[in-house]
Amino acid sequence: RDLTPIKTAYQNDFLIGNAITAEDLEGVRLELLTMHHNVATAGNAMKPDALQPTKGNFTFAGADAMVDKVLAEGMQMHGHVLVWHQQSPAWLNTTTDAEGSTIPLGREEALGNLRTHIQTVMEHFGDKVISWDVVNEAMSDNPSNPADWEASLRKSPWYNAIGPDYLEQAFLAAREVLDDHPEWDIKLYYNDYNEDNQNKAQAIYNMVKAINDKYALTHPGKLLIDGVGMQGHYSINTNPENVKLSLEKFISLGVEVSITELDIQAGSNYELSEKLANAQGYLYAQLMDIFREHAAHIKRVTFWGLDDGSSWRSANNPLLFDKNLQAKPAYYGVIDPV
Ligand code: XIL
Repeated sequence: RDLTPIKTAYQNDFLIGNAITAEDLEGVRLELLTMHHNVATAGNAMKPDALQPTKGNFTFAGADAMVDKVLAEGMQMHGHVLVWHQQSPAWLNTTTDAEGSTIPLGREEALGNLRTHIQTVMEHFGDKVISWDVVNEAMSDNPSNPADWEASLRKSPWYNAIGPDYLEQAFLAAREVLDDHPEWDIKLYYNDYNEDNQNKAQAIYNMVKAINDKYALTHPGKLLIDGVGMQGHYSINTNPENVKLSLEKFISLGVEVSITELDIQAGSNYELSEKLANAQGYLYAQLMDIFREHAAHIKRVTFWGLDDGSSWRSANNPLLFDKNLQAKPAYYGVIDPV
């Protein structure tokens, strides 16, 4: 294959990543992965349900094998994810009442579970990762009043058990670990989707600013949240101007920004017309152009899967390579931005 490696095309800009499962670390998939990427995210292997299915029972074997293989291949690793409302075992933040209904766990017990999970997982992987998604998807989808970020939060099980300060508590727990290991260089991220929606972007901005401003009162010049992750689950109808506005808004927080789960849905039923394939390639090109213009503030651009066949949105053909691992117009759009 004489394709330009994506990581080479962007070597002066930012890291190029992909989301992986164990199958991506073998044979021809591994070749494609290492040819184009220099950083990996576990698609599922480091989520709370994978790492602590029942209380105190940490199951690291799968993730350890993945992380060690990624590092042995000369790539870096991003940690995904410590606190989320999906793929997260119920025991962390809920319990059952006398009638057998699910109810929120008491605040102190939930906080204990939150802190133990974060600290055990971070201590375990140590500086094998360059960054962690500490909290994922805490914001509601289209907040009507972004100025009130606390009221805009998703009413997730963590929110219901602990209250709106669960995010701050999660980042404080993670920061304690890093303070114990000054030799580690690890960034703490807040990560979310629909972040091209300007109401949602504004609510996220207000939230990160409030949490970091409060922390700076007692830790002058220090950040509690180091980075904002823009997932980037887009579609052919996404307006790149909105992506740019959100990116510049997050950069203005003085944090690092990464594009963490990029894919662009186009077509349906596993079918992609030539016209839509070209439009998808053009949108990838426009987005990569915007990212390159802001490369000084962007650490990493990670695609969410190697090929359409293995994508979580497989029917909508969102990635750079087709199910036979052949480069699509999307790949060429990424290599040659407009
Ligand atoms: C997805 C995985 O790719 C799927 O395999 C899994 O079934 C569901 O989760 N936002 C995130 C990712 O932060 O963890 C999700 O990954 C996609 C949406």
